[in-house]
Amino acid sequence: MRAAHYAYVALAMLVDLALAEDVLFPHMHGLKYSEYDQAIKLGLTAHVCKDEDEWYSMTTADFAKYKAIVIPDCLCNTSLSTIQFLDDTKRVWSPAVTGNMVLIGTDPSFHAKWFDLPGAYAMMQDALSLVSMGKNGTGMYFSLSCYYQSNAAPMPIEALSEIGNFQVRGNLSHPCLNNAHLVAKSSVMTSLNDDIASNWNCSVHEVFSEYPRSGPGGFEALAIALNATGIGARSFADNTSGIPYIIARGATPLGCGNNITETEYNEECDDGAANGTPGDLCSSSCKCLHGMIAPGICRSNITSSSSSPTQSSTRFTNSRAIRPANRVFGIARQPGNEPAFRPIEWATRNPSRHATSSDSDCSTFSPLWLPLWAARNAFRLSND
Ligand SMILES: *[C@@H]1O[C@H](CO)[C@@H](O)[C@H](O)[C@H]1NC(C)=O
Ligand SMILES: *[C@@H]1O[C@H](CO)[C@@H](O)[C@H](O)[C@H]1NC(C)=O
Ligand SMILES: *[C@@H]1O[C@H](CO)[C@@H](O)[C@H](O)[C@H]1NC(C)=O
Ligand SMILES: *[C@@H]1O[C@H](CO)[C@@H](O)[C@H](O)[C@H]1NC(C)=O
Ligand SMILES: *[C@@H]1O[C@H](CO)[C@@H](O)[C@H](O)[C@H]1NC(C)=O
Ligand SMILES: *[C@@H]1O[C@H](CO)[C@@H](O)[C@H](O)[C@H]1NC(C)=O
Ligand SMILES: *[C@@H]1O[C@H](CO)[C@@H](O)[C@H](O)[C@H]1NC(C)=O
Ligand SMILES: *[C@@H]1O[C@H](CO)[C@@H](O)[C@H](O)[C@H]1NC(C)=O
Repeated sequence: MRAAHYAYVALAMLVDLALAEDVLFPHMHGLKYSEYDQAIKLGLTAHVCKDEDEWYSMTTADFAKYKAIVIPDCLCNTSLSTIQFLDDTKRVWSPAVTGNMVLIGTDPSFHAKWFDLPGAYAMMQDALSLVSMGKNGTGMYFSLSCYYQSNAAPMPIEALSEIGNFQVRGNLSHPCLNNAHLVAKSSVMTSLNDDIASNWNCSVHEVFSEYPRSGPGGFEALAIALNATGIGARSFADNTSGIPYIIARGATPLGCGNNITETEYNEECDDGAANGTPGDLCSSSCKCLHGMIAPGICRSNITSSSSSPTQSSTRFTNSRAIRPANRVFGIARQPGNEPAFRPIEWATRNPSRHATSSDSDCSTFSPLWLPLWAARNAFRLSND
């Protein structure tokens, strides 16, 4: 009896270990998207939920076992019902996600599968690398796919409401936003650059007009729609301006690390090379680890309010003139811009990208549906 019990416990532990792969994928149409292949290429082990019930049955502790949760791009799906499971379970998984996060306002899996764009693979690799570092808990990769691309007004991402107030907007295809520019870096993000992130026809599907920015859990713009104007436009430390379409927690924004606290770029502190090193109160994202007293002055970690402040950097420049966030730039109309998303034309130009019956790994996008997509697209265009 007792032996049987121990055998059972040992088995349960083995099963438990076997479940604790590096990254977790939800069931999502029961398919594996390009993010899965990229994760494997990075040497990560992956667990894919066998059905929706498995995801719904998981506890916070179950989610916390993974280095990262990956919500892949469902091939430019436009239906929010695709991520209803995330919204339904947010009170369970959100507390587990304390690590690096990358939220992507575009559809890299779609552009990898149908157009084999190097930038699409690079974007997935870099984002997966950042979120699966295993620092400070479970990370999250979340592609917004095309869920919000038709919404002209900012709309909250309900599935993320436990983490913060995230607002996104779409209606960006008049013309396409095709000039992408990276405004943050990380030692593990080595693949993506402006050139290959740009000119995807369209590169940007959703932009972030609002997101949590303060404290160690704050987000940074990782990539922007360069020179885009309107709600959400911001200026960056390299004197560029635009609207963030990829945001991250855990990356280092441009200008962070120069030992000058630049509040206009959302910095709370900047201890130069000491940022993020043991004993320093400023993170590698230029956020005070234990709260900010004033720009450049971080709370020490002893207690919350009675602790003595530590000057992080004396040369903070919060008096520096703040450039207006919505400074108007002309957007050059690029000759190659597609007026909108046009699968038929693309499929014709890219005959080799047609799905075949052997193309079984991931396709909810079948060539048979192209007329439907075109009809839907025409409808959407005429209604935008
Ligand atoms: C998008 O997702 C919805 C809900 O999961 C699904 O019903 C629909 O078939 C998907 N559409 C495409 C084009 O993949
Ligand atoms: C790590 O996660 C905890 C729990 O969410 C959070 O309070 C803390 O600020 C995080 N630290 C960093 C450095 O992100
Ligand atoms: C963005 O705007 C700047 C400043 O007006 C300009 O110099 C640059 O060429 C623009 N870049 C693109 C890609 O439109
Ligand atoms: C940005 O512009 C300011 C003032 O126009 C200038 O002093 C600074 O050197 C510029 N920074 C970069 C990175 O080009
Ligand atoms: C940062 O600036 C402070 C104050 O000006 C100075 O004392 C310190 O040596 C600087 N640190 C680095 C790493 O440059
Ligand atoms: C607080 O700071 C001390 C050194 O000042 C360090 O040893 C300790 O690890 C820190 N604790 C946290 C939770 O950061
Ligand atoms: C974008 O469209 C233009 C013409 O409309 C074409 O020349 C170019 O190859 C397309 N780029 C991609 C990445 O599909
Ligand atoms: C979508 O964008 C176009 C062009 O910028 C604009 O004319 C149209 O009014 C927008 N649609 C809505 C619903 O705001």
